[in-house]
Amino acid sequence: MNPKGISLILFIGLIAILSSNQFRNAPLLILEYVNDLITLETLSSSTVIPIDLMLGYNRGHHHHHDDKKRKIVSICDDFPPDFPPPATNATSTICVDHNGCCNFTTVQAAVDAVEVLSSKRTIIWINNGIYFEKVIIPKTKPNITFQGQGFTSTAIVWNDTANSSHGTFYSGSVQVFAANFIAKNISFMNVAPIPGPGAMGAQAVAMRIAGDQAAFWGCGFFGAQDTLHDDRGRHYFKECYIQGSIDFVFGNGKSFYENCQLTSIANPVAVGARAITGAVTAHGRASKDENSGYAFVNCSIGGTGRIWLGRAWRPFSTVVFAYTSMSDIIASEGWNDFNDPSRDQTVFYGEYNCSGNGANTTLRVPYAQKLNDTQATPFLNISFIDGDQWLQPYS
Ligand SMILES: *[C@@H]1O[C@H](CO)[C@@H](O)[C@H](O)[C@H]1NC(C)=O
Ligand SMILES: *[C@@H]1O[C@H](CO)[C@@H](O)[C@H](O)[C@H]1NC(C)=O
Ligand SMILES: *[C@@H]1O[C@H](CO)[C@@H](O)[C@H](O)[C@H]1NC(C)=O
Ligand SMILES: *[C@@H]1O[C@H](CO)[C@@H](O)[C@H](O)[C@H]1NC(C)=O
Ligand SMILES: *[C@@H]1O[C@H](CO)[C@@H](O)[C@H](O)[C@H]1NC(C)=O
Ligand SMILES: *[C@@H]1O[C@H](CO)[C@@H](O)[C@H](O)[C@H]1NC(C)=O
Ligand SMILES: *[C@@H]1O[C@H](CO)[C@@H](O)[C@H](O)[C@H]1NC(C)=O
Ligand SMILES: *[C@@H]1O[C@H](CO)[C@@H](O)[C@H](O)[C@H]1NC(C)=O
Ligand SMILES: *[C@@H]1O[C@H](CO)[C@@H](O)[C@H](O)[C@H]1NC(C)=O
Ligand SMILES: *[C@@H]1O[C@H](CO)[C@@H](O)[C@H](O)[C@H]1NC(C)=O
Ligand SMILES: *[C@@H]1O[C@H](CO)[C@@H](O)[C@H](O)[C@H]1NC(C)=O
Repeated sequence: MNPKGISLILFIGLIAILSSNQFRNAPLLILEYVNDLITLETLSSSTVIPIDLMLGYNRGHHHHHDDKKRKIVSICDDFPPDFPPPATNATSTICVDHNGCCNFTTVQAAVDAVEVLSSKRTIIWINNGIYFEKVIIPKTKPNITFQGQGFTSTAIVWNDTANSSHGTFYSGSVQVFAANFIAKNISFMNVAPIPGPGAMGAQAVAMRIAGDQAAFWGCGFFGAQDTLHDDRGRHYFKECYIQGSIDFVFGNGKSFYENCQLTSIANPVAVGARAITGAVTAHGRASKDENSGYAFVNCSIGGTGRIWLGRAWRPFSTVVFAYTSMSDIIASEGWNDFNDPSRDQTVFYGEYNCSGNGANTTLRVPYAQKLNDTQATPFLNISFIDGDQWLQPYS
């Protein structure tokens, strides 16, 4: 078995273990674990795979009633009943399985097979596992859905950095340029080494979403610096897990984040020290005439480090946190103007009805706004992204 195969099985084994116990911060561990494996695979290609983990993988994560009694006859004996659903005139389904049990073994091959400029939706059903590949959905392929089996059991993983890919913007493990993209129950990971303080060229994007009208349901985004490139267009994120350190949601998108968990892996700061080690957002609105911004509603922020809620990548950076719980990792000043005081007059940084030790606004920078009901209203539901015009319900 090749080293990646070994990593994959170990990863799946880990998932099986984690999901059978009650590890609350499993996703964080997973990124570290995958990182270790990528290092490990160059050191050792003779790792022994415990057979029960492999069995655990084949048995796990499915909802067959007779799961415990069911005998695994082959690795391909593992699909939902009535799969794939028959094509309709609006939707067709194609399937990806890394063991070769259905149409394609890589996600990119499935994307390549989608008809150009199709007005039908193509559901790319992706079986459990890690897909070690870089995936690009070009502008000519709208209306694609990635359907995974859960964000802790299905992942697309690559490890480009700004240095290895002609800049941060091209480092994404998955890059979507097409409109009407949907992802459900899948993770996007960049497992490049976590940069040390002051490292250059180590930015490593997990997902770049640059198409309009995209929706992410129950997805995971794993990386460190610049995890989620929320680049341009209107985007919806619900019940997503987003992990990073510096500027881990960045770009010039207009996006609504609902019930998402934002987890910082920024470097811890010694008690009493003043250092800042990360930032949740770096929104990049450049002018008043643009119509972009990030709204986070009913989210939570936790993890490690001392971080800002946002810093002003460009002068009209626009970010609102509402009904969001914030742990004490949020620096009391809250926000940062990227060392350009003229931006204090032009950014729009708002907080509304947030809670937790990090949400105390007493010592916030003067340009941070505690929004009143009228000011907050446009940011509180999907009309912020015109979702009433395009956002389909989850199922
Ligand atoms: C597509 O299917 C729907 C019902 O499923 C039907 O009403 C409609 O006429 C069909 N459209 C075409 C172009 O076949
Ligand atoms: C995918 O596999 C199904 C079932 O074997 C088959 O009917 C379908 O034609 C395949 N689709 C493509 C695009 O290969
Ligand atoms: C397909 O994409 C086009 C262009 O983005 C969009 O107008 C259309 O509504 C989409 N169709 C479906 C079925 O989502
Ligand atoms: C990505 O991982 C591969 C395999 O371990 C390694 O050879 C490559 O150097 C890594 N790339 C970067 C940019 O770290
Ligand atoms: C990126 O490249 C620059 C210039 O070659 C180098 O100084 C830096 O260490 C590299 N960063 C990483 C993370 O490899
Ligand atoms: C898929 O995501 C939805 C939306 O977050 C969630 O309700 C559902 O439980 C998830 N399903 C699986 C199998 O993870
Ligand atoms: C939001 O908080 C304000 C006080 O800061 C309170 O008056 C208001 O009732 C709260 N609104 C909601 C909807 O919880
Ligand atoms: C908020 O922070 C200020 C300044 O540190 C402190 O005096 C105040 O007690 C805090 N409020 C709450 C509710 O913790
Ligand atoms: C909310 O704040 C805006 C801007 O400061 C102000 O014009 C408006 O009167 C306030 N509305 C309420 C209900 O307090
Ligand atoms: C969203 O809020 C707006 C007010 O900004 C309201 O007019 C609209 O009905 C709300 N839409 C939904 C879907 O709740
Ligand atoms: C946020 O949570 C509150 C309380 O559960 C709920 O009333 C509200 O609809 C939620 N808003 C969004 C956008 O999910």
